[in-house]
Amino acid sequence: MARLQGIRAVVFDAYGTLFDVHGPMRKLAAEIGPRAEEISRLWRQKQLEYTWLRSLMGVHADFWHVTGDALDYALAQHEVEEPGLKDEIMALYLKLEAYPEVAAALEAVKANGRLTAILSNGSPSMLESAVRHAGLERFFNFVLSVEDVGIYKPSRRVYRHALQKLQIHDAPAVCFVSANTWDAQGAAQFGFQSVRVDRFVLRDDRIPGKPAALIKDLSELAGLL
Ligand code: 2OP
Repeated sequence: MARLQGIRAVVFDAYGTLFDVHGPMRKLAAEIGPRAEEISRLWRQKQLEYTWLRSLMGVHADFWHVTGDALDYALAQHEVEEPGLKDEIMALYLKLEAYPEVAAALEAVKANGRLTAILSNGSPSMLESAVRHAGLERFFNFVLSVEDVGIYKPSRRVYRHALQKLQIHDAPAVCFVSANTWDAQGAAQFGFQSVRVDRFVLRDDRIPGKPAALIKDLSELAGLL
């Protein structure tokens, strides 16, 4: 795969890209039951849907609120009503595990001397907790939340915010990395050189924006830069 040219900063999506959002339900599968994986997928689907619907409605709430609402929906849909279980699951969402190759991949990217950042729907406190628990603080120059903008990705305003904070004026100087098709494609449409991490073996969505590269996990990223 051809190297990306002129990259000055590498910006990462967080949930699903650096952190495994299905960890909490996997850890509590004994309490949740045999449909834990199906409930986790519905939870993630509703979490993202609610970000897009709230952005279109113009009624913003932060990602902690949206994540809790989505979990309520998924548990109710599957009639899982054990008292205290929701709080137990949400507490684990603050301590998500990073995928196994993430730390080494970030080390390799930092060794190239580029600026690095997270750009995520997560609220500042959610992101601070996730980065700290995964021991990744040292790898990022910035941890950026959509809360600074008040609308969710893939709004152009969010990607533009990252350019402003990085003090970079030309979008193609940013390599944006996400495992979420809509995010990788939204970033490509904005003008970033976008790399999709194909963790979930997906195809590009039929929406504007085409990633510059597809990698199977982050271990392939440094070789592209
Ligand atoms: C993010 O971290 C939700 O993966 C998305 O912004």
